[in-house]
Amino acid sequence: MARLELNGKQYELPEVVGSEGERAVDISALRNNTGYITLDEGYGNTGSCQSTVTFIDGENGILRYRGIPIEELAEKSTFVETAYLLIWGKLPTLQELEDFSQLLTKNEMLHEDMKYHFEGFPTHAHPMAILSAMINAAGCFVPKLLAPGDELFVIQAARLISQVRTIAAFSYRKSLGLPIIYPKPAYKYTANLLHMMFSEPYQDYELLPEVVQALDMIFLLHADHEQNCSTSTVRMVASSRANLFACASAGVCALWGPLHGGANQAVLEMLEKIHQSGDNGSKFIEQAKDKRSGKRLMGFGHRVYKNYDPRAKIIKKKCDQLLDAMHWNDPLLDIAKRLEEAALNDPYFLERKLYPNVDFYSGIIMRAIGIPINMFTVMFSIGRMPGWISNYKEILDNKEGRIYRPRQIYQGPVENRYVPIRERQ
Ligand code: SDX
Repeated sequence: MARLELNGKQYELPEVVGSEGERAVDISALRNNTGYITLDEGYGNTGSCQSTVTFIDGENGILRYRGIPIEELAEKSTFVETAYLLIWGKLPTLQELEDFSQLLTKNEMLHEDMKYHFEGFPTHAHPMAILSAMINAAGCFVPKLLAPGDELFVIQAARLISQVRTIAAFSYRKSLGLPIIYPKPAYKYTANLLHMMFSEPYQDYELLPEVVQALDMIFLLHADHEQNCSTSTVRMVASSRANLFACASAGVCALWGPLHGGANQAVLEMLEKIHQSGDNGSKFIEQAKDKRSGKRLMGFGHRVYKNYDPRAKIIKKKCDQLLDAMHWNDPLLDIAKRLEEAALNDPYFLERKLYPNVDFYSGIIMRAIGIPINMFTVMFSIGRMPGWISNYKEILDNKEGRIYRPRQIYQGPVENRYVPIRERQ
């Protein structure tokens, strides 16, 4: 029990201990018992839920999906198998994986009427705006609001995971004025996305195994990350019992911000600016340390990781391997490595425990594959979809669950009167 003293009165608050030893004070009865609420701008010290999906130990750079270390999954699993693990809480048997994969294939096509929506977007529309809108449009074809244990959940989940890929590829092709390329049932998840993005009506894109595997691993590494900004958004919307597609569409909007998923695009824009300026990175590092510059070392720092983001380590290694295999020498990778080296020896970054995060190297792999910078956060959304769906399912299955509705402390004008317009200054 935790003890709290307020205005000379003692209160006892229950403690909650997580399976990995994390500890919390349960304040769910605080306001009823004391009249007080807690205040925690940005929720840095506030747990919104108890979850069994993902565990992060930020101090030690640990990330596990359903208890399995991310390093093991990155080395031995695939994105689709990991998606199954996150959503249903166990690794699939051979038959379960085959059935799930078939379901994704069965749901990969969009309703033909969806094509008309693409016509309405301006060619310069950001793909994240299109993605969010089109996920909601796709939801119109599966409008049923799910109840706990609803067998339609698996269909809606499979359709969302499968079609987010088709929507992404179609929006990419539209942005270039190219004919859309339909999915091929023979192709597995990530290969089919590359096919839909880069094949031509007269010639199929050459699916290099190392390219398919690198992008598949990027999706796997992005698949979930406990209560980050976009996942918390999905849970918030899911708590009102909204449609799964509406929840995912809201997640896309939250992920878009440059402080969150939009950072992978911001990292490449930062590296390109440094490259074009001829700066070897040291000038930029000084600017990133100076608050007045308004600049940050994008791809660095994390609310939870106060050590190296384990995903960044894995992606950096994959980056070196892929660029070697493609005989691709990217000056931006050299700049990224120089920035990392400088920052990891600079007291400003060390004192604030700012290390590379998942976004620092992922963009370099995507650029080598030929994915345009404005599609990077769309790739992040494709990867994060199983994580959003897993968190949606936790809300759906919780029969005692309540709508999320935080409190606030009001700091506005105290009681005021209406003044007729003729009497106003
Ligand atoms: C993702 O939450 C998740 O799990 C997210 C994610 C996921 O998988 O879902 O991991 C994905 O979003 C990764 C983060 C991608 N964003 C970036 O790379 C953008 C650059 N980084 C930041 O802006 C920042 O580090 C955040 C947003 C990631 C974290 O912000 P916090 O925890 O609110 O930290 P803060 O802004 O309060 O910064 C603390 C200090 C400040 O300096 P002081 O006021 O103490 O002097 O560190 C400084 C900040 O100015 N700082 C940076 C910096 N990040 C923090 N200074 C320079 N460059 C940076 N990148």
